[in-house]
Amino acid sequence: MHLVTLKDWSTADINDTVDRSLAIKRNSSAYANTMSGQTLAMLFQKTSTRTRCAGEIGMTQLGGHAMYMDWRNTNFGLADLGDEVRVLSRYADLLMVRFIENTDVERAAEVSEVPLMNGCCNRYHPMQALADLMTIKEACGRLEGIRLTYVGVMNNVCNSLIAAGYKVGMHVTTVAPEINPAAEDHELYAAAQSAGLMERSDDLRMAVERCDVVYTDTWIDMEYFTDPAYSEEKERRIRLFKPYQLNYGLLEGLDLRIMHCLPAHRGYEIEGEMLDDPRSVIFAQAENRLHGQKALMLKLAGR
Ligand code: CP
Ligand code: NVA
Repeated sequence: MHLVTLKDWSTADINDTVDRSLAIKRNSSAYANTMSGQTLAMLFQKTSTRTRCAGEIGMTQLGGHAMYMDWRNTNFGLADLGDEVRVLSRYADLLMVRFIENTDVERAAEVSEVPLMNGCCNRYHPMQALADLMTIKEACGRLEGIRLTYVGVMNNVCNSLIAAGYKVGMHVTTVAPEINPAAEDHELYAAAQSAGLMERSDDLRMAVERCDVVYTDTWIDMEYFTDPAYSEEKERRIRLFKPYQLNYGLLEGLDLRIMHCLPAHRGYEIEGEMLDDPRSVIFAQAENRLHGQKALMLKLAGR
C-alpha cells in the first residue's frame, strides 16, 4: 500500500489513520518501539521543515530510524529514477519522496518494493491532509458534515483537502480565482462535486460565513522558486490574490476555526496576527503533522 493521493484510499483507511493519530497524540509512549529495526528513507527535491521533521522525529519516537537524502547529493540526477528507487526500496522499509512532479511520484510508487509516501508534489499533499483531518476532528469533534472554505489558489494542499473531504463527508468550498496549472485535476473536482461535497464560489464573504473552518495556503508553491519568471509571477499573484487574504476585516464576528498548512507568508495570504487569533488552530495543526506521520507509517508498515 502506498500514499500517492488520498483519491486512492478508502474512507475506512482514512478514518482509521485519523483516529490512530488522535490516539497516538493522547498516549505517544504506548507506541515506542512499534517500528523497531525499521528504516524510513526520505528523498527530497524541495525544502521542508514540517514534513522532514515529522518523518525523522516520528520514526525516532517509534523506535525506528529515518534517513534524510537531499536529491542533489545522490545519484538520482545521473540515472533513471525508476532504477534508483528500486535500489532504495531494497534497502529501506518505507520511502517518503518530496518530488516536484506528480508523474515522478507515480513512477516511484510503481517500482518501489516497499510502501511509499508522497511528501508533497505539484498536485497533492496527502500527508498534510491527513493531519488536517485530525486537527478538524480534534477541534470540531467530527468530520462528516463539516464545511471547510479554502481561500487562495487551488494547489496541491487544496486538492488533497478536496480528496480527503469527499471521502469522509466533509464539504469543501473553494474561493480561488486560479488553479495552479500543474495541480488541475478535473476528475477529482467532478468526483467531489457529484458527491455534493465540493463547490467553487466567487462570494468570499458568504463562503466564510457558512463554514466551520477557513483554510489558506501560499499563493506561490515551491516549484515556482526556480522559474526564471518567478519575480514577475510573484508580483502578478500578489496583485491578483490580495483581495483573498484572510484578515480581521473578513473574519470579524465569525465563529470558525482558522487553518494554514505553513509555512505562512504573514501579510500576504494571511494577516500576521491571525496565526495567534483564539480561533486559529494553526500551531496544533503543525504539531499534528508529527502524530499523523506516525499513524501513517504504522498503517503502511502494517503495524
Ligand atoms: N506543511 C508542510 O508540508 O511544511 P514543510 O514544507 O515545511 O514540510
Ligand atoms: N503548497 C505549498 C506548501 C506546501 C507545504 C507548496 O507546495 O509550496
